Amino acid sequence: MAEAPISVARTLARNAGKLIRGAAGQRRLVERKSAVDLVTEIDRAAEDIIVSGLRSAFPDHDIVAEESSPRRAAGSRPCWYVDPLDGTTNFVHGLPHCAVSLAMAETDGLIATAVVFDPFKDELFEAVRGQGAILNGERVRVSSTETLDEALFVTGFPYDRRQHATFYLKYFETFMRRCRDLRRFGSASLDLCYVAMGRFDGFWEWNLKPWDTAAGWLIVEEANGRVSDFDGATYDPWSPRILATNGRVHAEALAVLAELPARDE
Ligand code: IPD
Ligand code: CA
Ligand code: CA
Repeated sequence: MAEAPISVARTLARNAGKLIRGAAGQRRLVERKSAVDLVTEIDRAAEDIIVSGLRSAFPDHDIVAEESSPRRAAGSRPCWYVDPLDGTTNFVHGLPHCAVSLAMAETDGLIATAVVFDPFKDELFEAVRGQGAILNGERVRVSSTETLDEALFVTGFPYDRRQHATFYLKYFETFMRRCRDLRRFGSASLDLCYVAMGRFDGFWEWNLKPWDTAAGWLIVEEANGRVSDFDGATYDPWSPRILATNGRVHAEALAVLAELPARDE
């Protein structure tokens, strides 16, 4: 019998994570995809491990992988979204906070299987649709925080931040005035998983891609959280806007977003 997608994803995430962890602290080749968007040979080597593993386990599935195939697939076959190293800037600077993120969408576009592995904390988050969110074998759920006033939110600054700094800072400022506090940790997949297990109450970010968010999206929903666009519409992983919360503070966060400019004029 063919191996279940969740079990293949777990193994590949751990294998890629071992490579990342083993390479920590060594000098490495850093290339720039843009002024502030970095890639190392470790991102590429981790992606090779995952993509070749997926191809051999599921030869008839599509793969959208950040470094080698970052384009939308036709949607006629199950599709894997692969971020081999989410948190490259942390990794390059020796900050031990990054993850391997893998998700499989069915042909209806819904994510069915998700794994996010942090090789430094040895934390493996996973979800299979309908079966709950799990961290290292134990069920996790979102926080019970009821108001933004008591909420700890996390965000990220997108790769066009130099061009649109004032626009993104307006979002930061507005949430700063309403939440208990804000964080910027540098790995969107882990930001989402931390919402799922209650370390954070909410997360918003502009301009993420499906390889950043697809796995965390399912993990938050399976932990009883809510993920949407900034207007409350159903989340589309190719959309440039994501809001993920514990559900309880979602309406309040949407109201804050509604006060903000929708684009940088
Ligand atoms: C980045 C991280 C970061 C987020 C960026 C992402 P990468 O992914 O998730 O937290 O703010 O927008 O692109 O480049 O390290 O895989
Ligand atoms: Ca990423
Ligand atoms: Ca990456």
